[in-house]
Amino acid sequence: MAKKTIQQLSDLTGKKVLVRVDFNVPLDKATGDISNDRRIRAALPTVKDLLSKGAAVIAMSHLGRPKGEPAADKNLKMDKVAARFGELLGRPVKKTSGDVIGPEARAAALALKPGEVLLLENLRFDAREQKNDKDFAHAIAALGDVYVNDAFGTCHNDNDASMVAVPASMKGKPRVVGVLVARELEIIDGLMGNPKRPFLAIMGGAKVSDKVKFINALLVKVDHLLIGGKIAYAFLKARGVDVGSTKVADEEVAAARPLLDRVDRTITLPVDYVCAKSEDFNSTRVFEEAIPSGWEGVDIGPKTLAHYANKIRTSATIIWNGPVGWFEKPAFAAGTKGVADAMAQSGAVTIVGGGETAEAVEEFGFADKMTHVSTGGGAFLAYIEGREFASLAQCDER
Ligand code: 3PG
Ligand code: MG
Repeated sequence: MAKKTIQQLSDLTGKKVLVRVDFNVPLDKATGDISNDRRIRAALPTVKDLLSKGAAVIAMSHLGRPKGEPAADKNLKMDKVAARFGELLGRPVKKTSGDVIGPEARAAALALKPGEVLLLENLRFDAREQKNDKDFAHAIAALGDVYVNDAFGTCHNDNDASMVAVPASMKGKPRVVGVLVARELEIIDGLMGNPKRPFLAIMGGAKVSDKVKFINALLVKVDHLLIGGKIAYAFLKARGVDVGSTKVADEEVAAARPLLDRVDRTITLPVDYVCAKSEDFNSTRVFEEAIPSGWEGVDIGPKTLAHYANKIRTSATIIWNGPVGWFEKPAFAAGTKGVADAMAQSGAVTIVGGGETAEAVEEFGFADKMTHVSTGGGAFLAYIEGREFASLAQCDER
């Protein structure tokens, strides 16, 4: 998809540029501190480019899913995000604290000078944001001369005003994508269009039912699909393998069933699994074939990892979504770490997507060794499924 990008904008002196970023970062539950600032760092190239062209930047994002209750939502104010954004950018970021789009926000936007940056309050503090509300969108749109979508992680949300109704009401003004969105689209388009072969997919995570469309879209393209994570047990159970005390919902088994005829052809399932005693998860054992009652599968086993690593080494393009084990627990992290390590060393084109998978790769220190780590979770899946995004439809074609 060839969208106009900020590269096609030249002099922006004196212009106010509205930039929709995805600063929906993970927060520590107790303190509200930012636990991973990757999405903020990912937006910096766009913001810096706009500033260097003489623009003033008005950035906006949602953060979490506010409930409309001040006590529950206080950690979802944008103050900490604005502070981190300023630190990373190396210049102060102004921040409004009243209504998302009230007199204070309007005055702050109006007073903004070239080279200055303003961050609006959490867009979802206004219920109109998620209803594509026209009045809300007009009020935001009135602040800017140019609209930039650099929020790849939110591109699949068709009802978010800041993604769809705002650019719609800026018709006639430049509406372009930022560096981050342009790169995400280019990488995924290349991956699904003309990948170097062999093309390998690795999938893990918790639910097959959420990913049926994604798996089917990949199966059309890939030479091979390796399964790990919780979803592996849905496939195994559907095949009639005893998964012991591993919790697998009936709907997950039902979602895996139609894919069974691909198993041992395009799809490979684990042949051994690290299991933990369900009562306390303190002792682990590796089982092949059936899992005894009282034990739960928590990671792929060493034989499986060796086989998967070998597949990775002999592939030219690899896409990975979903951890293959319960990697947050060090005792169950070997599979996920091993997959990341093998990918990092493979020399292949390596694409990692989905929030948790990206976090795992970062945590284990392999992010810089991948061709691309997507900032999208749901958006990454939806784009690969081939869904048209209403947000991108509002941005100018090149
Ligand atoms: C995400 O992380 O999925 C995006 O920021 C969109 O947030 P949402 O899932 O709450 O709509
Ligand atoms: Mg989401």
